[in-house]
Amino acid sequence: MRVAIVGCGHVGLVTGAAFAEIGHTVVGYDSDRAKLELLARGEAPFYEPGLDELLSRHNGDRLTFRDNIAGALEGAIAAFICVGTPSRSDGRLSLRYVEQATRDITQTTDGPLVLVEKSTVPVHTAQRILAVLREEGKFPAIEVATNPEFLREGSAVRDMLEPDRIVVGIAGNGETERVMRELYAPIVERTGCEFILTDLETAEITKHASNSFLAMKISFINAVARICEKVGADVDSVVRGMSLDPRIGPHHLFPGIGYGGSCFPKDVSNFIVQAEEFGVDMSFLDSVRRINTEQRSLLVSKVQRALWNFEGKTIGVWGLAFKPGTDDLRDAPALDVIKAMEAEGAHVRAYDPAAGAAAKDELPRTEIVADAHTAIEGADALVVLTEWPEFREADLDRVKEALRRPVIVDGRNVWPVQRMAELGFTYLSFGRPDVVLGQIRR
Ligand code: UDX
Repeated sequence: MRVAIVGCGHVGLVTGAAFAEIGHTVVGYDSDRAKLELLARGEAPFYEPGLDELLSRHNGDRLTFRDNIAGALEGAIAAFICVGTPSRSDGRLSLRYVEQATRDITQTTDGPLVLVEKSTVPVHTAQRILAVLREEGKFPAIEVATNPEFLREGSAVRDMLEPDRIVVGIAGNGETERVMRELYAPIVERTGCEFILTDLETAEITKHASNSFLAMKISFINAVARICEKVGADVDSVVRGMSLDPRIGPHHLFPGIGYGGSCFPKDVSNFIVQAEEFGVDMSFLDSVRRINTEQRSLLVSKVQRALWNFEGKTIGVWGLAFKPGTDDLRDAPALDVIKAMEAEGAHVRAYDPAAGAAAKDELPRTEIVADAHTAIEGADALVVLTEWPEFREADLDRVKEALRRPVIVDGRNVWPVQRMAELGFTYLSFGRPDVVLGQIRR
């Protein structure tokens, strides 16, 4: 099948590359010329494991890019709108790019075409798209479907090719159902994942409900971790005890400095606004958001407790990206934590395997270094903010030698408390007993 992708950011590019991988012919369009030049050379404009391989495998063949929508739509049976929906200050999402893309597509083709809404949008956006199609006299030659993505950064390619489920909302036209089923058939056949066919609103709500629920799990366990600290309990064992109940499960129950990124913060805020619009009380999501924000200042106060004063201190930081496996700094907790420590007078030397270069603009006062050891050499403390595998596997004896004082404050609970005690560190983390100079303090 021929598929057009409008907007080649994280969602659009991964979706397009995956569709090419399963045999479809994909033409991407993006208004960003610099990005198109990179893509024409088969280079991804951002770090995402596995994406470069797909680009180099299909570039110029089943995957091509155009600088105009007409070129992208040529012969296409479906067009995926994957443009950005940035947050506005009031928590609503700006849908101007979705409208622009809808109008551009509608004014370029008479169909037949399935216009697929893939950007993260509030409920009823598909109805607005439908209204434009009617206004332009292109319905039902052009039909609308909604197909939310559940891609995680750092594993987006795998999440697209091996999804937990595929959710498709349609306005009831059989042809649209056929096109969407055929598009995803190679994935459904290979993985056996469920293809949920529903109406437009149900599919739109599924996205926000899923992300807000996952964010809620994280804030819940962070609140539990705070109780554990007060009573000398161990959150790791609490999580173990909870997660063996299949109704709870082990995922998204890792305590620490909380969630960041381009999805959870934005989606939680927007779901609160959506609910308010319908007079539904989802105020508990306010607590989810507040707890999450507080985790960042809680980390700073742990560093203060370990170091007494920040002035004249050098702090080595491991991790800047909002999570491992990406160079994405959008709403990364590390940015707030580092700025707060610098405001208190500390000098910060930071390392991240992928996001260092991007952080230079965000953190002008921070010394961004090229390797983990340089970040901590002679530092008064090590602060861990992203749980990259290389940190988990670090040689802790060498870390202890490099640091001026054996002090680690861990925002991601990377190492076992017992081991840190045996090594003689002062080690503070979330929801677990403090270790002070090798002594576990319950
Ligand atoms: C998320 C959803 O997982 C994905 O389905 C959706 O499509 C987009 O939003 P992403 O933001 O890439 O994906 O990352 P995710 O792995 O969910 O992590 C989000 C944030 O939560 C990260 O900052 C991560 O560090 C944090 N997190 C995650 C925790 O603090 N604890 C956890 O247990 C899990």
